[in-house]
Amino acid sequence: MNLPNFIEAKKREKRDYKTVSYEIDESIKGKYAGKKYFLKTYGCQMNEHDSENIEAMLVDLGFSKVDDYLDCDLCILNTCSIRENAHNKAFGMLGRLKHLKNEKKDLIIGLCGCMAQEESVVEEIMRDYKFVNFVFGTHNLDRLPEILDVAVESNKQQIEVLEKESDLVEGIPVLRTNSYKAYVNIIYGCDKFCTYCIVPYTRGSERSRKKEDILKEVRELVNDGYKEVTLLGQNVNAYGKDLYDDYTLGDLLEEIALMNIPRIRFMTSHPWDFTDKMIEVIGKYPNIMPSVHLPVQSGSSRVLKLMGRRYTRESYLELFDKIKKIVPGVSISTDIIVGFPGETEEDFNETLSLCEYCKYDNAFTFIFSERKGTPACKLKDNTTIKEKEERLYKLNEVVNKYFLENNKKLEGSVLKVLVEGNSSKSNMYYGYSETNKLINFTSNKDITIGDIVDVKIVSAKTWSLDGELVE
Ligand code: 5AD
Ligand code: SF4
Repeated sequence: MNLPNFIEAKKREKRDYKTVSYEIDESIKGKYAGKKYFLKTYGCQMNEHDSENIEAMLVDLGFSKVDDYLDCDLCILNTCSIRENAHNKAFGMLGRLKHLKNEKKDLIIGLCGCMAQEESVVEEIMRDYKFVNFVFGTHNLDRLPEILDVAVESNKQQIEVLEKESDLVEGIPVLRTNSYKAYVNIIYGCDKFCTYCIVPYTRGSERSRKKEDILKEVRELVNDGYKEVTLLGQNVNAYGKDLYDDYTLGDLLEEIALMNIPRIRFMTSHPWDFTDKMIEVIGKYPNIMPSVHLPVQSGSSRVLKLMGRRYTRESYLELFDKIKKIVPGVSISTDIIVGFPGETEEDFNETLSLCEYCKYDNAFTFIFSERKGTPACKLKDNTTIKEKEERLYKLNEVVNKYFLENNKKLEGSVLKVLVEGNSSKSNMYYGYSETNKLINFTSNKDITIGDIVDVKIVSAKTWSLDGELVE
């Protein structure tokens, strides 16, 4: 049995990661034909993409998908640890599954994702959730078929979580959610160790995929007619640093931009690793979408230092201005935490004034959530939860004002929209613009989902725009 261990996970030694190929024991392929799976995914795009791998491996085993967990023979929770809320949701679901298992004795239950990398969670599952059949972590996703099969055959709880990253596994099958936009991992893990964040422990150290493997995957997506790829990583800007002397995200973006794919996105960017070359490349190629997610977390240099963010308010704003200047029409979104331990009213006001300056196109705002084992837990925190909620409310009022103000400027313009769906009742469609705005629009003719069309913007709302198809 392998258990996670935060102390071990924290030890970062430089080592060369091997790339190995995915393997599955041929004898278990199709073994579970006729059985149904339900997969619940919590958290970020990395988890969503991992779930696309999980689904493909389950299909290889013979499982087919159901949309209601009450109908399944196998339920897997792909979990997230980023805030307490996500953690509680997964445990809430485990409670419901316990009831279901009382009625359905053969129900198989698995847990994976970031929570599986937390030693306290795994201990709790071994102690109080014995009905969970298997647990595997973020470093050994590829082991799912074997772990599941051993759990079923042995009828004993299987826990296989590696505290440290293993080799990079290429060729894990993938069942993509749709046929026009795709996620492509470019780097795993994070070495930034922001003091509030659990990700460097649950996702391990920064490991880039080889550029040849990434380019091959994108080339195949282009050949299959995909319209959009999103290059994924906890910190995509660190791409290549662990592998190459002189090949970075700017170079990778450029090579991908020269392939025939209409839309390229990337996320998430840490301001620290944002190079001039990257900005120049984003500005130069029309198929690299002018949309940058640039988490600021706080507008106070004092708090940024406590957070271990490696930049100041001033250097962030310098980068922000540079991106705005060099990338025409760019939209910039951000993440902000309020109520970090020791954040004063003055610090918070600096966050508000930074938002007044940046006028973000989108912002994800959070109240600080204590994550066991991270350095921020040890900091003194005198702010009450009520004060923190008031700060969040005030912050949301400011950022929402600018979402609407920015959207209003688009009224009357024509935007390119990648169509993602339609409402069954009417002639309404929806999709995303190049700057990642949600557009709802009417059309008098049928449109194929996955097409890129021109839409004239008629009216702006805070979180979306309404328009009509330009024929
Ligand atoms: N508490 C609140 N928000 C957090 N984030 C990361 N860790 C925490 C935490 N402990 C937020 C950051 C990050 C986003 C993905 O989640 O803003 O950018
Ligand atoms: Fe967490 Fe900071 Fe890494 Fe983002 S950059 S995943 S906030 S440690």
